[in-house]
Amino acid sequence: MSTGNIPSYTLFDGGKIPCIGMGTFGSDRVCAEDVAHAVAGGIRCGFRLIDCASCYGNEQEIGAEFEKLFEEGAVKREELFIMSKVWNDMHRDVRASCRKSIEDLRCGYLDMLFIHWPFPNYHAPGCDGDARNPDSRPFSAEEFLDTYRQLEALVREGLIRYIGISNMTIKKLEAVLGQLTIPPAACESEIHPCFGQAELVDYLKQKGILPIGYMPLGSPRRPERDIAPEDVVDMQQPALQKIAEAHGCHPAEICIKWSLQRGILPIPFSVNHYENNLRAVGTDPLSEDEMAAISALECGNRLVKGQVFLWEGAEDWHDLWDED
Ligand SMILES: NC(=O)c1ccc[n+]([C@@H]2O[C@H](COP(=O)([O-])OP(=O)(O)OC[C@H]3O[C@@H](n4cnc5c(N)ncnc54)[C@H](OP(=O)(O)O)[C@@H]3O)[C@@H](O)[C@H]2O)c1
Repeated sequence: MSTGNIPSYTLFDGGKIPCIGMGTFGSDRVCAEDVAHAVAGGIRCGFRLIDCASCYGNEQEIGAEFEKLFEEGAVKREELFIMSKVWNDMHRDVRASCRKSIEDLRCGYLDMLFIHWPFPNYHAPGCDGDARNPDSRPFSAEEFLDTYRQLEALVREGLIRYIGISNMTIKKLEAVLGQLTIPPAACESEIHPCFGQAELVDYLKQKGILPIGYMPLGSPRRPERDIAPEDVVDMQQPALQKIAEAHGCHPAEICIKWSLQRGILPIPFSVNHYENNLRAVGTDPLSEDEMAAISALECGNRLVKGQVFLWEGAEDWHDLWDED
């Protein structure tokens, strides 16, 4: 694909992907129509990568905007990099999930399809933090591989160009990477200044897997179920605010620069500031000292703990992330 004015990363096979994308999860707070309008606005400003997911409940609305943009000639399908994700209740029928996303998004094929979570533990979109499903079970490499092989078949059929994985840990990656025929092109993980995931990022790069950072700004308006009293607000950290002041921009743009300069692809969500987020790309880089000062904000501030996916017998959410 051509990434227009946006610099690109190179994927394992030499293919290109824009270095920044637009998130589309309305966090149970922004309605589907508003997210879709923001996506259209973002594309008009120059965004070319859109991070969708079947469980965000807005692919139909986003697809309607894509169709209008294609008809108007504002952008061509092949100029966009459209990603979607298979939700946990569709691991046994990935093809149906993929077809539905393609149909809803009216995009003919997906550039990348992700396995949203590496296990089939289902909870309804919008559930509260105490919700548990008695059928939930721990990660199983066999189950994951069975799901992954369905995505490999979709690549061979031309329904998707690349396979993505998400919410993985090094331990889970070690259990499966050697057994894949088509490598994953990217891994989507929570990454922001107070939760930099340095070890995982290094591991992914070593394996030729592009790290994509979700919640790159620290997701200040995430759903209630993902808010805990001990959570830290990244963009309110004085060190980050001071650097933003020095660059004459919002801390959000500093978070984006920090991700990009670490070789991570950030996918910030925005209905009101998306144009500013593009401004952060390729201009006025952070100095080494500034990069170090931001990395020093690391405090293990994981925001998506994933407690709704826990299985019977699990101690707490740390089990989900293979942490002691
Ligand atoms: N793979 C996964 O499991 C997974 C999990 C979570 C998220 N994701 C993806 O990652 C995307 C991003 O995560 P997120 O939406 O939770 O959080 P985020 O991108 O870290 O933060 C979004 C928030 O920041 C604000 N914001 C954005 N740009 C700004 C700017 N320049 N100045 C001031 N405020 C700004 C937005 O407000 P305005 O709307 O007012 O601009 C919005 O409230 C999601 O949309 C989704 O696509 C993936």
